[in-house]
Amino acid sequence: MKIHGQAYRTIWLAQDGWRVCVIDQTRLPFRFETVTLSSIDATAEAIRSMIVRGAPLIGATAAYGVALAMRVDASDAALEAALVLLAATRPTAVNLHWALGRMRERLSPLPADDRPAVAYAEAAAICDEDVALCRSIGEHGLPLIRDIAARKRAGQPVNILTHCNAGWLATVDWGTALAPIYLAHDAGIPVHVWVDETRPRNQGAALTAYELGAHGVPHTVITDNAGGHLMQRGQVDMVIVGTDRTTATGDVANKIGTYLKALAAHDNGVPFYVALPSPTIDWSLSDGLREIPIEERSAREVTHLTGLGEDGEVRWVRVVAPGSTAANPAFDVTPARLVTGLITERGVAPASAEGLARLFPERAQGAAA
Ligand code: MRU
Repeated sequence: MKIHGQAYRTIWLAQDGWRVCVIDQTRLPFRFETVTLSSIDATAEAIRSMIVRGAPLIGATAAYGVALAMRVDASDAALEAALVLLAATRPTAVNLHWALGRMRERLSPLPADDRPAVAYAEAAAICDEDVALCRSIGEHGLPLIRDIAARKRAGQPVNILTHCNAGWLATVDWGTALAPIYLAHDAGIPVHVWVDETRPRNQGAALTAYELGAHGVPHTVITDNAGGHLMQRGQVDMVIVGTDRTTATGDVANKIGTYLKALAAHDNGVPFYVALPSPTIDWSLSDGLREIPIEERSAREVTHLTGLGEDGEVRWVRVVAPGSTAANPAFDVTPARLVTGLITERGVAPASAEGLARLFPERAQGAAA
């Protein structure tokens, strides 16, 4: 994607060929700043603090974290320690574990001397593959938007509601939920996006709105509570969200609040789609509500908000009465029965074991039923 006319991915290597550059997403939309990661500890902290976030990008960043660790010490013990440290950074997004599993599989059989170079190559491959997967999700999601556009009066936009940020900032490029929207916009289909602000960290207001604005896609930021009302009034044609972990049976974990949007969509007959690359599918799970670990984040993200102060500085302000406690479950699970379809790199599947197995027969064999 382009920022100020310059093409960016969300992660790339510095000129020295070994340090890892990322966009500091805690500073957007007010400042476009990059952070250069030169150690595994800095990488783990970048994931924990959400300098980088979004399931696919977390996985890609962790892969480079392993490469940074291998540069310093490529012994078996160091490899294991790196994988354990990075796996503990965020529990819900399965892409993290998928990427670390892939690094382990690739590096473990090798002699230590070969590991650093191979680790960098594997991390780069994960990034390149993510770009291709997301582009393909866009191509498979585009006809869904086109079909709705064909049923609307000429010139009327397709109104799409999204939650959190599942755009290019959450991946290496393109995004998942936003990829079909970008392709539709580029194809001349009029689209308008309702952007949930997505408390507590405001990924919608801060990141999705920033992305859509940079690409020229018409959008309106709404409070998290407004979606149901807009659906009741016929002002939402479809919902597209991303996911951090989807079970083999089609249950979907995504940013907290997604489930409420799915309920409202169901009640109002609004199609509710989830866009995901296959590394987001956890083939070992069949019951999302019971089995997907839900991250509990700091209460401070609820009691405080970030924004641009009148002095031009990005700062945190308190919004909750001092002394009140706050809880911060970061994700929820939407049961498969509320999901109209899963938009993957291989096509759109019903959210069910059979639907996913049809698209991914080689993975579904032996998956949890
Ligand atoms: O806490 P975050 O910002 O990492 O949560 C991100 C989401 O919930 C996204 O919707 C999800 O990772 C899909 S991203 C393509």
